[in-house]
Amino acid sequence: MAQNWLNAKLPYHPPEWIEPSDMIDPGSPCKPPEYRKLKPLSRPDAHYDLGSTADTWKYFWHPVATVKEFRSHAHGGKGPMSTMLLGQRLVIAELGEKICAFDDRCAHRGASLGLGWVDGDQLRCRYHGWCYSDAGKCTEIPTLNEGDPIPARAKIKEYECEVRYDLIWVRLTPGADTTIPHFPAWSDTTMTCHAGAPYLWPVSAGRRIENFIDVTHLAFGHQGTLGGPPHTRFKPYPIEQKAGRLEFLNDTFLAFNPGDATYGPPSSPDSVMLAPAAYQVILPFTMIISFRWSATKDTQLFMHATPIDAENCRSYWFTCLTSDGSSAEEHLALQSIVLTEDLPLVASHSPRAIGEPHEEVSVPGDKSDIIWRKRMRELANAANEGPEALSRALHEEGNY
Ligand code: FES
Ligand SMILES: [Fe+2]
Repeated sequence: MAQNWLNAKLPYHPPEWIEPSDMIDPGSPCKPPEYRKLKPLSRPDAHYDLGSTADTWKYFWHPVATVKEFRSHAHGGKGPMSTMLLGQRLVIAELGEKICAFDDRCAHRGASLGLGWVDGDQLRCRYHGWCYSDAGKCTEIPTLNEGDPIPARAKIKEYECEVRYDLIWVRLTPGADTTIPHFPAWSDTTMTCHAGAPYLWPVSAGRRIENFIDVTHLAFGHQGTLGGPPHTRFKPYPIEQKAGRLEFLNDTFLAFNPGDATYGPPSSPDSVMLAPAAYQVILPFTMIISFRWSATKDTQLFMHATPIDAENCRSYWFTCLTSDGSSAEEHLALQSIVLTEDLPLVASHSPRAIGEPHEEVSVPGDKSDIIWRKRMRELANAANEGPEALSRALHEEGNY
């Protein structure tokens, strides 16, 4: 048997375009999404995962910023702040008591409203001072003479926008039976949730999710951190398809036991831990992994990969723990190591969004990815028929 897995620990140089220090936001709370760092699409008409289009994923809720970065962005914490979702530029602003999301394009000459300011409970454009209400209706055009009407077309499109888990969520297209993903640890009084800094990766949201649910890369991509040879095989595990979700229990999750600290780097090369890990994929792009270390000790990871465009995604994440004496810093530091190991591998994918089945070779160990891809295709096909068909497809159940 080939033993080339030992090479996983040899030094290597990631491709030039990847600068981990650039791509992983170091956590400055006031840093808005750095979209100028977006890697250009490989082609102007680059496809979303599995040949889907942005229209499919517009039916779902996605976070577009953390409340913390929004509050520290500008103008007394009310925005406006420009952001991007599914290739579309958006602006978020707190108007009155509510955070609202609009197209980031003034109806007058198309300037970015993210450059403007919140004026009372309205959003004002910096270019010629047009003002918009929380419904996106133009309420004032300073250059109009008294009695001149505000043109009926002077409005900006508003989108559904909600704050949940200290994240600002937007749904671009209503109509399908989609909800903001349920995050159990958030409301569990025995657990504390710590937000990690969001990070921008130059791959599709699908590539990011697949990496997260891929159990067979732990021994190689995370050799010495989360696993290692000879623990390369996983027992076949059943996958349950419930309303809008995929669930599987991985009770052979193999990772180095870091010893007494439980988290952090391994204490010795052969210290292996067995922690039942319950994986939950909330379709399409949310992941929750719950680890049960003992009857009183749990950790839960939450991550949503927001498709910025077809080939760039921004991940929002939390690590949640029961109080066991370990510090949030330990947990966040471990995640930071894991992300640094994943980034060059994930960012090297070609194509950057998941392509056609014949472009890759899958084996039974890739089961979680295979079933997730199947569901993604079903959702994309259903969405082409309309929101009712998508809702039906989303609620289909099954076992694999
Ligand atoms: S472009 Fe906004 S007011 Fe002119
Ligand atoms: Fe990984």
